[in-house]
Amino acid sequence: MSQVSAVILAAGKGTRMKSERPKVLHQVCGLAMVEWVIQACEEIGVNRPVLIVGHGAEQVREQVADRVFYAEQKEQLGTGHAVLQSRDLLRDFIGDVLVLCGDTPLISAETLKSLLENHLHNNSVATVLTAEVPDPTGYGRILRDELGQVKAIVEQKDATPDQLSINEVNTGIYCFNNQRLFSALEQIRPNNAQGEYYLTDVLEILRAEGEKISGLVMADHVEMLGVNDRIQLAEAQAIMQQRICRKLMVEGVSLIDPKATYVGAQVKIGPDTVIYPNVHIEGQTTIGSNCILGANCRIIDSTIGNQVEIQQSVLIEAEVGEECSIGPYAYLRPGTKLLGMNKIGDFVEIKKSVIGKGSKVPHLSYVGDSILGVDVNIGAGTITCNYDGKNKWTTIIGDRAFIGSNSNLVAPVEIGAGALIGAGSTITKDVPEKALGIARGKQKNIADYSEK
Ligand code: UD1
Ligand code: CA
Repeated sequence: MSQVSAVILAAGKGTRMKSERPKVLHQVCGLAMVEWVIQACEEIGVNRPVLIVGHGAEQVREQVADRVFYAEQKEQLGTGHAVLQSRDLLRDFIGDVLVLCGDTPLISAETLKSLLENHLHNNSVATVLTAEVPDPTGYGRILRDELGQVKAIVEQKDATPDQLSINEVNTGIYCFNNQRLFSALEQIRPNNAQGEYYLTDVLEILRAEGEKISGLVMADHVEMLGVNDRIQLAEAQAIMQQRICRKLMVEGVSLIDPKATYVGAQVKIGPDTVIYPNVHIEGQTTIGSNCILGANCRIIDSTIGNQVEIQQSVLIEAEVGEECSIGPYAYLRPGTKLLGMNKIGDFVEIKKSVIGKGSKVPHLSYVGDSILGVDVNIGAGTITCNYDGKNKWTTIIGDRAFIGSNSNLVAPVEIGAGALIGAGSTITKDVPEKALGIARGKQKNIADYSEK
């Protein structure tokens, strides 16, 4: 295939988002809109597209970093003017260049591929991706000649009543011969209703020069959905979510109710895992096969092994080994590592701790900054007192130790392998291997007390 580059327009303000954040950084299923567009370009072999930035340029650069080349459009004088800003970067490029918008996150690599193929097959200098839509209001209309060739694109504000009735519209996505695009761009003038430099005028200029302009109608016009406000953002989100869920189901994941399942773009899930409604899985999360994620789980940036069951719990930056059972109402915070076959029960919070194989924390506990060996049992109500108001300290609990209910382990402290802690103890000194550590007030019974 010939060389292909891309220019993505993202300098506009996005006024209707009513946001401090540049429009193209608003997220759809965990990726910024512009990242979806960049990804689609990358998938068809574009190596580092050119991003035209303007409003919020700094924020965009920070987020997108060196995945693209940047060209700045200081004043937003129109789409043609925007593309012109990439001239210096693309000056020596010989090949075809795609032009896209950063606010159409649903555009797929397949559609871009067919646009490019159509362009090459027809030997065109310009191909515009069009869409047939039920309501063309607001879009540029496609004017074709008797032979069906694209003549021009007329904007809503410049169109005659007859032209307004055309329902084939400009998606804002094109493929151009790079050299011809820029030579035509130099000729456009802002003599139109909006006083803008219209990229669309390039088509008429090239046609006047005797070039063939093609128009390819996109298969599913939903892909051109441009996000201008939060309502359209939610629409794009819903459609993208549906795509992600369908893909998961095709790959063997069961979703009890796909409409109520929220899975981010970068999440990976193994086959035969079953996901109940209202589960949110976000960020860089990987989930193994044969897992059960019960209703109302929220899992962020975590790695979950195979055959894990999680009920109504929150996991953030946690690593969960195979065959663990978690929740309901567990909270696994950053740095939690469950090494496998663990039971982490209800109302348990774990932070920055390694829990050895087979160890259990079944109820009502806080485990922080701790290292637990294998087959440890932590009784209900146990607290690792890891914080003295200034510093965090470590608790070490050896293999097969048994911590009686309602114990406080005041860190730094080490409980030896096989040791026992009497229920209700506040342990401030290390307990040797196999010893019983007990530290609680002696019970006194006062006879006939209630009679007095
Ligand atoms: C443009 C097309 C229209 C098409 C529509 C599809 C022109 C003249 N019209 O409409 O035919 O149907 O897209 O959505 O091209 N931008 C810049 N700098 C600018 C102006 C725009 O970067 O100076 C960016 C915007 O951030 C946005 C994209 O270009 O991502 C499109 O701009 P927008 O104003 O929405 O396009 P329209 O002119 O309405
Ligand atoms: Ca617009």
